[in-house]
Amino acid sequence: MKKGNRWLHFALIVAISFAMTMTVSAMSQAGDANDSKTLENLQAAFNGESNAHAKYLAYANKAGEEGYLKVAALFRAAAYAEEVHLNNHAKVIKGMGARPKAEIKLPEIHSTEQNLADAIKGETYEQTVMYPDFIAQAEKEQNDAAIETFSYAEAAEAEHAKLYAKALSNLNEWKVADAGFGVCPLCGYTVEGKATFTKCPVCGTPVDDYKLVI
Ligand code: FE2
Ligand code: FE2
Ligand code: FE2
Repeated sequence: MKKGNRWLHFALIVAISFAMTMTVSAMSQAGDANDSKTLENLQAAFNGESNAHAKYLAYANKAGEEGYLKVAALFRAAAYAEEVHLNNHAKVIKGMGARPKAEIKLPEIHSTEQNLADAIKGETYEQTVMYPDFIAQAEKEQNDAAIETFSYAEAAEAEHAKLYAKALSNLNEWKVADAGFGVCPLCGYTVEGKATFTKCPVCGTPVDDYKLVI
């Protein structure tokens, strides 16, 4: 190779290396999980589920003290479902290269009647506003794992809201513990008593794997 050609060859290699470095850097910035709004939503959901889990266990104790044994079982079942949700969200957060973060702040514990009203409010917000918004954003980002974990939680929160409403309007009959509640260990779907289906209607888990909470 002539001297002039060698320089041209060298300059070309430098230019190509520079262009490749810039491209890789731009790609890694575009794919940076920390820029994702969905990651922020997953952290908010992880924090919400962690707080709901702790709050429902406290509400279960209060219901037990007040003699509402079936309400106590429902709070414990919902607490387990929220634990399923927080673990599902945590897996997706970790898969995106981040660390799940939650700050537990227990509210003041009131009467079981008031605690049920508070629980209905929280579940209704999650099911009608929060999770639908989070799912829409995850769809925009084509994040299938986030869509799945948000959708599992959304379906379970709808059942929780219904079960809490049923408990509130039958408070006196819910003093006696009966067949308990079944909770799906994969999606947190919650049913009163024995499930009448063979597979979870949300995620397909065999109903025999449901956890019974009494
Ligand atoms: Fe939940
Ligand atoms: Fe819930
Ligand atoms: Fe399920």
